Amino acid sequence: MTNINSDSTIGLTRSVQGLRARVSSWRDAGQKVALIPTMGALHEGHLSLVRAAKEFADRTVTSIFVNPRQFAPHEDLETYPRNEQQDIDLLSEIGCDLAYVPTPDQIYPEGYQTAITVEHVAQGLCGGSRPVFFGGIATVVCKLLNQCQPDIAVFGEKDFQQLLVIKRMVRDLDMQVEIVGAPIKREDDGLAMSSRNRYLSEAERKIAGRLNQIMREASKSMAKGDAVDDTLKKAKADLLEAGFNNIDYLEVRHSEDLKPLGPEPLSDVDLLYARLFAASMLGKTRLIDNMKIDQ
Ligand code: PAJ
Repeated sequence: MTNINSDSTIGLTRSVQGLRARVSSWRDAGQKVALIPTMGALHEGHLSLVRAAKEFADRTVTSIFVNPRQFAPHEDLETYPRNEQQDIDLLSEIGCDLAYVPTPDQIYPEGYQTAITVEHVAQGLCGGSRPVFFGGIATVVCKLLNQCQPDIAVFGEKDFQQLLVIKRMVRDLDMQVEIVGAPIKREDDGLAMSSRNRYLSEAERKIAGRLNQIMREASKSMAKGDAVDDTLKKAKADLLEAGFNNIDYLEVRHSEDLKPLGPEPLSDVDLLYARLFAASMLGKTRLIDNMKIDQ
């Protein structure tokens, strides 16, 4: 384990052994440890998770690993933004204690052949259009949790379905960790921050905020009693008109088990749990967002 630059107190380790040595020393000192798994190209959304983690734990570990198992062959694994030194500097500035940047063999050693499958909650939405996705995520997150053995792990509501998949896995496999969800960080025009936003051209960036704005309009309209079906049809038309080239999904689901809600107006009970989920392509960039349905 080494300090990567002299004015920083953050540690860097690339091995499970290094990670465990550091975490054990904290544990022995009675300190509570939080893990924040990421794929790097860090932005304010990621950093907000580290800040949230610092409220729950004495020590924070941020992992950076671009996980090949959650990319389909046609997806952007090769071009996914990588900026390790800048990521580590950002983590250092906000007082993260350790960057865990495993070499690929630390996650998938030669001969690796185990996968985790989470069932219903991983189906539909992002699991519908990206079938390998949640298996790859559950597997890598299970490994990271086992490697680090944190008291808590923090995930963003930006990837709401991912958060539910991980909560389900942890409950089902009796993993001793508390999973904490943190709110979505947005740009001024409402666009959810994402490492993939840097793929957007200037013209696309101007359109991108419309996704959140159109979703908010739809959310208000359903909260005041408009039918789910009609509202979503209008919102889809608005997205296409704004310049999105296709809508992967735009759906209202129960926020705990992802059961579909609608097509009629939402009942008062539905409204306690209803969440609007969207994924849409803008040029070559896939944007996702979700929000609670309310005023
Ligand atoms: P990544 O996309 O790098 O995101 C890492 C964490 O940051 C996730 O928990 C994600 O929900 C959260 N996050 C991203 N953008 C956010 C925003 N705008 N506001 C709040 N939180 C945000 O998600 C992954 O990586 C991977 O699937 C991973 C869990 C690391 C497994 O490989």
